[in-house]
Amino acid sequence: MNATTQPPVLNPIVDVPPPAQHRWGEAELARLTAMVQQRSLFYWKGPQTEALHEEFRKHYDLKHVFPCSSGTAALHIAVGALRLKPGEEVIVSPITDMGSVIGILYQQGVPVFADLDPRTYNMTPAAIRAAITPKTRAIMAVHLAGNACDMTAIMALAKEHNLVVIEDCAQSWGSRHQGRPVGTIGDFGCYSFNDFKHVSCGDGGMVGTNRDDLGEGLSKWGDKCYDRVAGTRDPAELAPNYRMSEPQAAVAAAQLTKLEDIVARRIRNGTRLTEQLAGTPGLLPPVTRPGDTHSYWFYLLRLDLAALKVNRAQFVADLRAQGVQAGEGYIPMPVYRYKVFQNHNFFGGTWPARDLGATTMDYTKVHCPVATAILEDCTVLPLNEAMTDDYIDKVARAINTVANAHRR
Ligand SMILES: Cc1ncc(COP(=O)(O)O)c(C=O)c1O
Repeated sequence: MNATTQPPVLNPIVDVPPPAQHRWGEAELARLTAMVQQRSLFYWKGPQTEALHEEFRKHYDLKHVFPCSSGTAALHIAVGALRLKPGEEVIVSPITDMGSVIGILYQQGVPVFADLDPRTYNMTPAAIRAAITPKTRAIMAVHLAGNACDMTAIMALAKEHNLVVIEDCAQSWGSRHQGRPVGTIGDFGCYSFNDFKHVSCGDGGMVGTNRDDLGEGLSKWGDKCYDRVAGTRDPAELAPNYRMSEPQAAVAAAQLTKLEDIVARRIRNGTRLTEQLAGTPGLLPPVTRPGDTHSYWFYLLRLDLAALKVNRAQFVADLRAQGVQAGEGYIPMPVYRYKVFQNHNFFGGTWPARDLGATTMDYTKVHCPVATAILEDCTVLPLNEAMTDDYIDKVARAINTVANAHRR
């Protein structure tokens, strides 16, 4: 039976729409009002950008910080600042946004995909170790959906092999590994303020490091390699313009004053949902490793299809009939399966890194079975700070009801 032949559910368990988020208000308005009275909206020494630095540092103890135009930009700046050379490899997750790999490819580097843990959805240290070659230069740890990677193991591997660690924290504002905020453990922390993240200014990003030798590169790498401190214009390297402007910084600074509250509510909601789904046959809720904090940017729930009588499409259709705004899957396929990778079509139908012999990588041969399985059996549930206990409890009851109705 498919979704269209299913009889309508007369009294859905989730009988109210999800509570509306109120994302912007007085705090943003105050900063924007101050901003429009400024003579300049340029970031350099701009008061909103200074305020953003200040607010960011209240959460992230990073010595060198550069606000930039997106999370993609933040990651590209990190890759540029470490001076990745053509053909050098960066180990990265196959379930992520294109933003993780764009900068690597623009620097003619080679993303190498390492498989994931089936329950945390993050790269396993064993898969990372297996992916290390003499060309490996960095590990990009993507803290997926807000769940922290095993940074202790990743840092140990990096030390053993002399690798740089870039943390992709786009989805993990407020997450912690063993008490430490993600983004402050590796060599670089990269964050996104895009519209869908915990905190947003429409589009924006942040990149930071505690390493003095890399810190100077951040502002140069995000600002055409101009030296704003010395006021000189004689770029020593090729670098893009990824600057953030004062209007974005005004909103981002105001948003960060709410971060703690937003994250606390999301953790509470995500934990509450997980507790109620745990133990139901057919459901595999996300696992957070002991001592870590999952800040639930979204809620990725795997289905144990062997324990259910229906396929994912039917299960999700039934969830929706019960009022749960579930999505079928997350990204459609592992990133290496995208056309651009399968055709190695990175620059006008060519891939200079490979065409000129700097790599032999063939993405048609890459296979990460766990990542593939996750994407084939998962459902994504929206989760946010506005949801009440009552709403979460209804969602949990609806999911458990559907799972119990279909268990083998
Ligand atoms: C894991 C991850 N990395 C990087 C990015 C890129 O961020 P942005 O959209 O701000 O460029 C995203 C955005 O969705 C993301 O989820």
